[in-house]
Amino acid sequence: MPQKLKTVYICDRCGYETGRWMGRCPNCGEFGTFVEDVVEVSPGSSAAAASKTPVTAQAKVKAYPLEDIGIQADKRDSTGISELDRVLSGGLVPGSLTLVGGEPGVGKSTLLLQLCKTIKTGSPILYVSGEESLAQIKLRARRLGVARPGLYIMAETRPDAVEGAVQSYNPGLVVIDSIQTMADERLPSAPGSPTQIRECALYLMKLAKARDVSVVIIGHVTKEGAIAGPRLLEHMVDTVLYFEGDKELNYRIVRAVKNRFGSVNEIGVFEMAGDGLAEITNPSMYMLSGRPVNAAGSVVTCAMEGTRPILAEVQALVSRTSFGMPRRVAAGADYNRVVMLIALLEKRAGLNFGNYDCYVNVAGGLRINEPALDMAAVAALASGYRNMPVREGMIIFGEAGLTGEARAVVHAEKRVLEAARLGFSECIVPQANLKTLSAQGAPANRIKILGAANIGEMLDAAIY
Ligand code: TYD
Ligand code: MG
Repeated sequence: MPQKLKTVYICDRCGYETGRWMGRCPNCGEFGTFVEDVVEVSPGSSAAAASKTPVTAQAKVKAYPLEDIGIQADKRDSTGISELDRVLSGGLVPGSLTLVGGEPGVGKSTLLLQLCKTIKTGSPILYVSGEESLAQIKLRARRLGVARPGLYIMAETRPDAVEGAVQSYNPGLVVIDSIQTMADERLPSAPGSPTQIRECALYLMKLAKARDVSVVIIGHVTKEGAIAGPRLLEHMVDTVLYFEGDKELNYRIVRAVKNRFGSVNEIGVFEMAGDGLAEITNPSMYMLSGRPVNAAGSVVTCAMEGTRPILAEVQALVSRTSFGMPRRVAAGADYNRVVMLIALLEKRAGLNFGNYDCYVNVAGGLRINEPALDMAAVAALASGYRNMPVREGMIIFGEAGLTGEARAVVHAEKRVLEAARLGFSECIVPQANLKTLSAQGAPANRIKILGAANIGEMLDAAIY
């Protein structure tokens, strides 16, 4: 059957396909996301052929009573890296497909090679790289101290060759580095194109399910934070982990954004050292290292990352604006939230930011998206504005409502205990949290807890 090739344009974000290039995707509304791709259009293509045979004519169409379906209860292979196990809710599930995304150079290959060393499995492991030669991988493994019997390395880009290797070595874990280098030769499009990425991932997913092997694929992410290639990959896989971190800063955060086998709230924290990634089991201490003492505009808060409280420093710089329009910048915090808090301070506390630029930053590169940050950001802004530091040894958390009231937050006790553990002596919490905290009793003998009903009371206790 003669093959016909057709050029199509696929949105890199949502997978929308069109025959002509467009500046803006009509499906997801993103600009400049279309990439060119080549697909086959032959009347004998498998999809067309399959649609001609009615499903009912095929041999077995079967469904099973729910109670008859047996499962191996909660089988997981611990990765041997507790920060990673935390994110994966215990470890890798056999037969699952996991995507590890991150910007080039963040440390994905390093993490996965280290995982090959530490993972608790009796089966062989297959590490497939389309990016590096065998010798390069060997060098990296030596640097990381990775040596393990039954660890097989393969420099390969064809998914069917991977399947062949899985048949011969029968591994319990397959690592693919990276999905952008994989290419099915039967497809006309180039490696890294949306069609290749999608088809190769689908191939690997079938392989994972059919052979009950954990497959981890590495995917490079573009600056905007999308997996380069269609977002479709995220829908397809069981688990999506993002590996984040500034290349200049040494620490890295692994975050689950999708997890079919557990929660997505947890993060794992690592530090890039000379001999690979080291776990940071005490992130609060890490986030606060280098914090200025008695500096105006610096406030410590406690954020929840999943079930774990992490102390972080919120900084605000308030400086006279040199142009007509004052600037508002937020890093590590939600921009709109920061703008709202500035309005709140103007309206409810009488500060006038009209002639001031405001920069709010969560130090250390942590991103805090929960409202418990509000009170600390308010205190940092007021402290920066007045040029007066908040009291030393104090932590502040709580949500700010639009009338300036301090609203209760979840897990207040955990936050207070974390502050006490790190040696803080005072803590301002929303008045509404005070009742439950005193009922629980535990933290009160280790740290002084002050309740604030609104931002005015909070500022009185913190600064003035
Ligand atoms: P790598 O794992 O190759 O990143 P990715 O696979 O995400 O592209 O990590 C590359 C960076 O990590 C590189 O800039 C060097 C640094 N690095 C260390 O600092 N220490 C190490 O032990 C290793 C292996 C890498
Ligand atoms: Mg790499």
